[in-house]
Amino acid sequence: MQFTVKSGDPEKQRSSCIVVGIHESRRLTEHAKRLDLVSKGYISDVLRKGGIEGKPGQVLMLHRVPNVPSERVLLAGCGRERDLSDAQFVRLSATAAQTLNDMGVVDAVTYLPELHVRGRELPWLIRKTVESTREALYRFDQLKSKKDVARRPLKRLTLSIPNRKVMPDANRAVAEGIAIANGVELAKNLGNLPGNICTPTYLADQAIALGKEFKSIKTHILNESEMKKLGMGSLLSVAKGSRQPPKLIVLEYFQGKKGDAPVALVGKGLTFDAGGISIKPSADMDQMKFDMCGGASVIGTLRAVAELKLPINLVGAVPASENLPDGAANKPGDIVTSMSGQTIEILNTDAEGRLILCDTLTYVERYNPRAVIDIATLTGACVIALGKHASAVFGNHHPLVHELLNAGKHSYDRAWEMPLWDEYQDQLKSNFADMANIGGRDGGAITAACFLSRFAKKFHWAHLDIAGTAWRTGSDKGATGRPVPLLTQYLLDVASSK
Ligand code: BES
Ligand code: MN
Ligand code: ZN
Repeated sequence: MQFTVKSGDPEKQRSSCIVVGIHESRRLTEHAKRLDLVSKGYISDVLRKGGIEGKPGQVLMLHRVPNVPSERVLLAGCGRERDLSDAQFVRLSATAAQTLNDMGVVDAVTYLPELHVRGRELPWLIRKTVESTREALYRFDQLKSKKDVARRPLKRLTLSIPNRKVMPDANRAVAEGIAIANGVELAKNLGNLPGNICTPTYLADQAIALGKEFKSIKTHILNESEMKKLGMGSLLSVAKGSRQPPKLIVLEYFQGKKGDAPVALVGKGLTFDAGGISIKPSADMDQMKFDMCGGASVIGTLRAVAELKLPINLVGAVPASENLPDGAANKPGDIVTSMSGQTIEILNTDAEGRLILCDTLTYVERYNPRAVIDIATLTGACVIALGKHASAVFGNHHPLVHELLNAGKHSYDRAWEMPLWDEYQDQLKSNFADMANIGGRDGGAITAACFLSRFAKKFHWAHLDIAGTAWRTGSDKGATGRPVPLLTQYLLDVASSK
């Protein structure tokens, strides 16, 4: 899929299709008016006859509009003028892309980026047009023997801009949109792969492949014996119940100033979570193949950053393992010693994410990071608390939490802060070890974050619980690629604050 930007009037474009907006109720946008004028009222006539009301998401394809050189015109409903929200814009732009693709339009010019979205400016609309178009056309069909491909798929989309002055900003927004979409797509593909294909070794191989594709990324994989030497007793205990060897995937991207402290992203890479001996109920257990989406988002974000050549120092670390029941698996009551030296009583083997993350948090201490952000499908309790629209964010440093919240708002990949108060820490008390790995039913997402905070004392740290946002269920079951947009925006902000 190719994206370009261009300024120029719709009635002068020679393309297979022009996309213009119609507001509610049947009000022409400026660009629709121009087409209406040259066609001597053809468009307003269609509207008068009830073709389209202008509700967000409605579309109507017109063929051979008089005096318009382009073959077709797609009218796209845009809701009430001056009242368009982020969500509506993203949805209507995806619907437009889907319609073009379905109707055999190979190249089109869209005027939707010139719409007015509350609180947003042109570069945002351009970036989101690119992202939502890519999202709409995404299919995960690599494992289907018969692929359902469009006969004439959309190949080129030209995004209109009001004048040439904004060209540099617009081009940058396109490049950002493409890089984010590529990162999202990589995270989705990894997430959607089943556990029998996407094993810890497979994830590691993909990270190595990314290092080959981008010279700026250096990948190292730590194997079991190296982790043993480092004393990662907690991480290794989770992998004991699996026949797949665990991997600690480390990606280094050092394109900032020499000596600048890096940001470290730590992503849970649990390639299948059956719960271990504290086995999960069988209904919907297939969804636990998505338990590596945090790790996938780290790999996807590194891809986006490398493509944008951001002048920053960044480390990605992904502990990868399965969590299965087995004779050698962790048992409730087992006590393990983490790399930090702290001991952990494993009261529930299904609270395994924190067990692999804690040693990885200790591992990244060696980079003296300026900030560490972990991303994990950590708790079902987070889905109960926030549902599927917001990721939870916790942290031990307020400016960092705020930077992430703002990056989430800006990228429309939102997060919501949850408390990390000392009072909750008491729930992790163990009679036999330094701490238990669970804190009871109350505030389950919070006590999971409390557990991690004990391994994050030496740096500024934030934790994103993406259990509700990393994948969709139901008829469009699949990984979302979140929070790659949030993380990339955060790193764009880090790069521009230098
Ligand atoms: N990967 C799960 C969390 C999860 C569950 C995410 C459902 C999305 C949907 C995690 O490893 C887990 O099993 N957490 C337990 C923790 C509990 C035992 C304290 C949970 O949430 O039930
Ligand atoms: Mn689990
Ligand atoms: Zn898990």
